[in-house]
Amino acid sequence: MGTLLSKLEERLPLAPLKEAALHKQVPIHKHAFWYYMGGISLFFFLVQMVTGVLLLFHYQPGAETAHASALRIMTKVDFGWLIRSIHSWSANLMVGAIFVHMFSVFFMKAYQKPRDLTWYTGLALLGMTFLFGFTGYLLPWDDIAFFATKVGVDVAAGTPVIGKEIANILRGGTDITGLTIQRFFALHAVVLPGIFIAILSLHLLLVQIHGNKIPEGVERANAYRTIPFFPNFLYADLYVWLLAFNVLSILAAIYPWPLGPEADILKPAPQGIHPEWYFMAQFQLLKMMPEPVAMTLFGAAGALWAIVPLWNPATATGRRGKLATYAGIAAAIGLIGLTILAYGKL
Ligand code: HEM
Repeated sequence: MGTLLSKLEERLPLAPLKEAALHKQVPIHKHAFWYYMGGISLFFFLVQMVTGVLLLFHYQPGAETAHASALRIMTKVDFGWLIRSIHSWSANLMVGAIFVHMFSVFFMKAYQKPRDLTWYTGLALLGMTFLFGFTGYLLPWDDIAFFATKVGVDVAAGTPVIGKEIANILRGGTDITGLTIQRFFALHAVVLPGIFIAILSLHLLLVQIHGNKIPEGVERANAYRTIPFFPNFLYADLYVWLLAFNVLSILAAIYPWPLGPEADILKPAPQGIHPEWYFMAQFQLLKMMPEPVAMTLFGAAGALWAIVPLWNPATATGRRGKLATYAGIAAAIGLIGLTILAYGKL
């Protein structure tokens, strides 16, 4: 093994990488728990890749085949129901973990230079995760999937100027048909994973380069120590992954993901049709005010959130920092409040 490794080393010099990994230190303090959140998001993404590839072996896109193949996965393929259930549950847990991760790095002000690029690449990952969820939802072609996608695409069509064109490209015409499944499938299983993996690699490389952010108060009080990433923090990370895997397995096995009857585009939409939970806040805002106003409001709040490294840079005074913390609290309360309101009104 040693000879093999040294022969490989002659052709592929990995020493600088090994050196960097061995010297990486992780700060430990009373808020260090939040450092696990990025890793948990990564774990759920890896689960998505593995289960997604397994589903690819049986899933067949197309108006005539999509629902039938999903039904076969649920009833005929060995453990197919479990793999599909894990894929769907893990998708939702991944969105939840990313939200917690994003808010925790926001409150730690880890978006400030030099980590601003890490923040922007993270936002790109969040946007793509939403697109993964949106495109994946249609694929089983059951009635809920069809009507929820219809609502979602109609909302996208309401975006000023470019909305209608985007909706037509997504649908492959003016209606949701077999061609829409084909396009969503191409995006979900080929385009998005390719771009996602590239951006995720950059995100993780930046984390490796800059190390973990120590919150201001902790750094000022010098109330922290450091431990080596390898093997100490990595072991702790793996324990957390094991815990996440347990939660995922229990949910997927006890509450198998349902599959409704095949979509019938001539039928009226079932009562109380709504998008996935992570789109519910926006959905509620759309119900409360005219569509262009809601879209502008949500867009403006999202843009302010995205450019926080510009309006609260590391050089800003303490007052700006406090403002950012209040903005974070307002955003969390706003999103949770609107989501609860939306479910209450179903
Ligand atoms: C699938 C999506 C994502 C994955 C897999 C991921 C993964 C990670 C990992 C493993 C870390 C290092 C550990 C940690 O500090 O938690 C990290 C750090 C970071 N992430 Fe993400 N992340 C994702 C999405 C996001 C999002 C949505 C944002 C914010 C918009 C973001 C911003 C950051 C920042 C600023 C850091 C540096 C934190 C620090 O220095 O302490 N990430 N990410």
